[in-house]
Amino acid sequence: MADSLLITGASQLLTLGGRGPRRGNFLSNLGLVENGALLVREGVIAAVGTRAQVEARPETRTAEKLDVGGRVALPGFVDSHTHLVHAASRAEEYELRIQGASYEEIARKGGGILNSVKKLRGATADELKKRAHAALKQFAAHGTTTVEAKSGYGLDVASELKVLKLHKELAAGQPLEIVSTFLGAHVVPEEFHKKKEGSKQYIQLLEENLLPEIAARKLAEFCDVFCERGAFSVQESKRILQAGRQWGLAPRMHAEQLSRTGATRLAILLRAASCDHLEKVNRGDIQALGKSETLATLLPGCDFHLGLKKYAPARTLIDAGAIVALATDYNPGTSPTVSMPMILSLACSQLRMTPAEAIAAATINAAYALRREKQIGSLEVGKQADLAVFEVADYREIPYYFGVNHCWMTVKRGRVIHATKDSRN
Ligand code: NIG
Ligand code: FE
Repeated sequence: MADSLLITGASQLLTLGGRGPRRGNFLSNLGLVENGALLVREGVIAAVGTRAQVEARPETRTAEKLDVGGRVALPGFVDSHTHLVHAASRAEEYELRIQGASYEEIARKGGGILNSVKKLRGATADELKKRAHAALKQFAAHGTTTVEAKSGYGLDVASELKVLKLHKELAAGQPLEIVSTFLGAHVVPEEFHKKKEGSKQYIQLLEENLLPEIAARKLAEFCDVFCERGAFSVQESKRILQAGRQWGLAPRMHAEQLSRTGATRLAILLRAASCDHLEKVNRGDIQALGKSETLATLLPGCDFHLGLKKYAPARTLIDAGAIVALATDYNPGTSPTVSMPMILSLACSQLRMTPAEAIAAATINAAYALRREKQIGSLEVGKQADLAVFEVADYREIPYYFGVNHCWMTVKRGRVIHATKDSRN
């Protein structure tokens, strides 16, 4: 087999090239090349440009050829916020919510995250792995090539370690890249509720028993906290994230999802990689994000699934200069979807982002959110050859067609990892 691959026939090749994360007007810059081509050597992009430019290079003659037949090609989606490993759906809560119960009411009665904790603790590592593996195949089938994965449904030492070890095994056992995040601070688990100063004791367990072990075994890159009423306060979040940093884990946060807590300001203060959700941010938070390097990751799948009318203020954030990313938040409680194309549709129709802005937010900016911008998120020389090819005539049709998967082929590090029947012929 040739170690070089020449990809041609992209009617629109969205390179997303350029310096720095995309803010303001630059967010809609796709680096679009018509009749584009790519030369890949050992999984890395060796040349990119028009077909004529790339084919002018002599090494293309001996390369293996892949013609994508006039379709649209772009960097594989970077899904920078998921709760990948969980045991089961919570369809029963979905029905209760439709009948009028709120997400927080269900959580207060022991449902919600604690429901998933019960289910995960009762599941074997093998069962969890099978479910996550199947989900990863679906991620790939929708054009995603990198997935961030959070723990947070174990909430005891053994179960959290079980999940984080699964992230590592899954990363080694299938082609998608997995970026592991420790979310021990999702909620305080039930067994601590009756204890005196239960949350304090639980935070101590995170600091003394879990973080050192996670660092020693290199089981996570990031530490996340669900900073929310009913979960962790700003003060508690600060303590946990600082402890995480001492063990080498960079901070990121769930911020201002159901109420405005001040989490965004903390994320900025701690120079967190991202603060995610942001439905309830105020004007000051938006201005502060506009001047910050901390990514604003929007998760419109949650509001859609929960039937909430208030989406995050994407337009105001973009106008203020915030670095906006988009992710699925794949999880059984608030956003059971693996589909980045669906998230793009929601971003366009509900957040009023343009298709170009949504694509940049789901690729290059999301790569910044995972601090992987040197490797992924755009099609530039030296980066991994991670691509999604869509069966559309124009990139705007990716969000335009909703609820249908038009991903035709997905390539990770120069290897085809998903192909529709038609693309295999
Ligand atoms: O991102 N907000 C906290 N975590 C998830 C929901 C978790 C759940 O309900 O299981 C989220 O929305
Ligand atoms: Fe989440």
